[in-house]
Amino acid sequence: MDTTVKTIKSLGVLCSGGDSPGMNAAVRSVVRTAIGLGMDVFGIYRGYSGLLEGNVQKLGLASVSNIIQRGGTILDTSRCLEFHTPEIRQEAAHILFRKHIDGLVVIGGNGSFAGAMALHREHGIPIVGIPGTIDNDISGTEYTVGFNTAVQTAVEAVDKIRDTASAHARTFLVEVMGHRSSNIALQVGICTGAEHVVLSNQGVDYEKIVSDIKKGEARGKTSSIIIVAEGEKSGLSYQIKEVLMDQYAIAVHVCVLGHIQRGGRPTALDRLIASRMGHAAVHALHRGLHLHVTAINKGELVMVPLAGCLEDKNEVTGPELDLISALAI
Ligand code: F6P
Repeated sequence: MDTTVKTIKSLGVLCSGGDSPGMNAAVRSVVRTAIGLGMDVFGIYRGYSGLLEGNVQKLGLASVSNIIQRGGTILDTSRCLEFHTPEIRQEAAHILFRKHIDGLVVIGGNGSFAGAMALHREHGIPIVGIPGTIDNDISGTEYTVGFNTAVQTAVEAVDKIRDTASAHARTFLVEVMGHRSSNIALQVGICTGAEHVVLSNQGVDYEKIVSDIKKGEARGKTSSIIIVAEGEKSGLSYQIKEVLMDQYAIAVHVCVLGHIQRGGRPTALDRLIASRMGHAAVHALHRGLHLHVTAINKGELVMVPLAGCLEDKNEVTGPELDLISALAI
C-alpha cells in the first residue's frame, strides 16, 4: 500500500445505504467544488454495488443543475453486503485505478463509512465521508444530512393524524423510522405535542403509556398520540397495540409512517448543511486530509477522523429527553 500523499486530479462521488433528503445538495456541492478546483469528477451510481459494476460517469457542472431541491439521489444508492469481503474491495480498488479515480467522497451512514475505511486501509484510496442518513445516528457528528427533513415530514404527517384522532376521540400509535435510534421519535414527539414517546433501547413502559393516556382523558383531551421509535425493525407498534388491548382494554390505532420519511424535498437546513459538507469534503481531499468525515460539532462544521464515526449513536441524551413528560401534563 502506497501511503504517499498524492495530488488528487480526479474524484469519484457515491451515495451508499439508505437515501436521505439533501444527498443531492451534497453531490452538487462536491461536483461544483471539485470542478472549481480543477479536478475531474465522476459519479459512481448505486453506491459500492455500482462501483463494482463499473457504473461510473463523468459529471459536469450541468449534470448537477436543478437538483438541490430534489429528494432521493441522482446517483442512486444501494446496501452492498458483498463489500464486507476483502476480495470484493480489491476488485473495487482495481476499477477505481482503471478509471483513473484518485479519491472518493462517500455520502452515507456508518456502514458505508466502514466500507470506506477498509478500502483505504487495504488499498490506500484517499476517502472523505459526508454523513447522510435520516437517523442522525452516526457517532462523531451532531448532525447527519436528511434528519431535519425526515423530522419535518413526520411532524406534518402526525399533525394530520391528530386531526382525525381528535375528531374521533382516538389514540394513535405513530411509528417513525430510526433503526435502533430514537432521534426522529424524540423530536417528532416534542414537535407534535405527543402524550408519550416510546424510545428504542428502553423497553416499552406500558404502565406509563396507560397513565399518560388516562391523565389526558381526565382533563378532557379528546385524543392521544404516542410516537414509537421503530427499534430493530418496523412493526413494534402492532405488538404494543395488542398488549394495550389484551392487558389494559385500551383500543388504539396504528400508523407506521415508513419510507415517506426518507423522501421529499430537503428542508433549507438539510440543503445548507449538505452544501457546506460537500464543499468541505472536497477541500479536505484537495489538501491531503484523508479518512476524515465532515461533521457538526458544537454547531460548527469540522473534519473528524473517520475511525471515530463507525459506531452507531443510539442513545438519546440531553435536555430534549425530559421535555416530553414536562410538557405533556
Ligand atoms: O436509512 C435509514 C433507514 O431509513 C432506517 O431509519 C430504517 O430502519 C432503514 O433505513 C430502512 O431500510 P430499508 O429501506 O433498507 O428497508
